[in-house]
Amino acid sequence: MTDGTVRVESLKKEFGSLTAVDDLSFEIKEGEFFTFLGPSGCGKTTTLRMLAGFESPTDGRIKIGDEDVTAVPPYDRDVGMVFQSYALFPHKTVAENVAFGLKMEGVDKAERRSRASEALEMVDLGGYENRSPTELSGGQQQRVALARAIVIEPDVLLLDEPLANLDLKLRQQMRFELKRIQDELGITTVYVTHDQQEALSMSDRILVMDEGQGKQQDQPVDLYNEPANEFVADFIGEANILEGTITATERSEVHVDLDSVSSDPILVRESAPMTDLVEGDEVLVNVRPEDMRITGPDSSEKSALTGTVMETTFYGQITTILVDIGEHDVRVDVFGRATQSEYESGDKVAIDWDSKDCVLLRRTS
Ligand SMILES: Nc1ncnc2c1ncn2[C@@H]1O[C@H](COP(=O)(O)OP(=O)(O)OP(=O)(O)O)[C@@H](O)[C@H]1O
Ligand SMILES: [Mg+2]
Repeated sequence: MTDGTVRVESLKKEFGSLTAVDDLSFEIKEGEFFTFLGPSGCGKTTTLRMLAGFESPTDGRIKIGDEDVTAVPPYDRDVGMVFQSYALFPHKTVAENVAFGLKMEGVDKAERRSRASEALEMVDLGGYENRSPTELSGGQQQRVALARAIVIEPDVLLLDEPLANLDLKLRQQMRFELKRIQDELGITTVYVTHDQQEALSMSDRILVMDEGQGKQQDQPVDLYNEPANEFVADFIGEANILEGTITATERSEVHVDLDSVSSDPILVRESAPMTDLVEGDEVLVNVRPEDMRITGPDSSEKSALTGTVMETTFYGQITTILVDIGEHDVRVDVFGRATQSEYESGDKVAIDWDSKDCVLLRRTS
């Protein structure tokens, strides 16, 4: 029986004086779609290459199934990898490209041919066996690279930004394709991307990375709704992060004075209260743009913030309104088409939100 669990303990990689990966630990369950998400240079590819065996860790351990593979060479690990540049052989046919790993394993020609065809069928490229990769579109080449990785039936599939070179429409389509194939195979998948939409829409769990360190690992919904720190709040989705000071706490309710931007303290209702917070602590409050409402200049509702409209931008599905609240700007997203003409630069507006829609963050974490 194969076992596609992956356990990583205190993984570290130094290149000279640069620490590319710093004390990273995570566990991936069998069949899970697990994503490394983070900005360019945060150590995603380096971590993936250590899982594949192309890079050896400076410190820490990697286990796949029950086996400690930390010192095992790539060809003896049961992993398939798709590189960011598809790295297809241009002079070989599609089928030869796909069967390459099987040839390395010494599988005979007839079996190679039938398994390559099966894998191509899987990625919807049945009948493309004798084509040259140079005759294929970007999306088709990407699927050949995927077929090449799955044909060896690895326990773990490693994908490094496999959709990065595709245009938006094709990328969105391929997200579904990839998920379908992964579901069908039930294969443990480690996916690398710096695209948060891709990560949120495809993953069972996401590890958010910054400067070689893990910042939070969680399910997409929890990362979005309950970011653990300022980095995650800001990196996942759009954030309006306001500085404040706690004026009172009672169970799951916290009152926060938003320093200079608001006259009255605001109420924060925490679903997972930070029990150690006390009056006088400095905190950050995050309110997502889609959770903010413009309550109009003459609204009788009690508003949390007041400000001046700086800019209104129409994006199709939403219109974003940038409001100067004094210290800085906040972004308010309004759904629908009609809003652009409603708010013009210079308009005085008030902004409000539900107390359950703001999240407390520690100032440093
Ligand atoms: N072989 C190497 N030698 C020296 N430094 C390296 C090497 N490979 C990566 N680095 C450095 O390690 C850090 C992490 O690189 P890595 O390629 O893992 O980032 P990444 O998260 O995949 O970024 P991107 O999203 O741009 O692909 C970077 O600062 C990079 O310059
Ligand atoms: Mg990379």
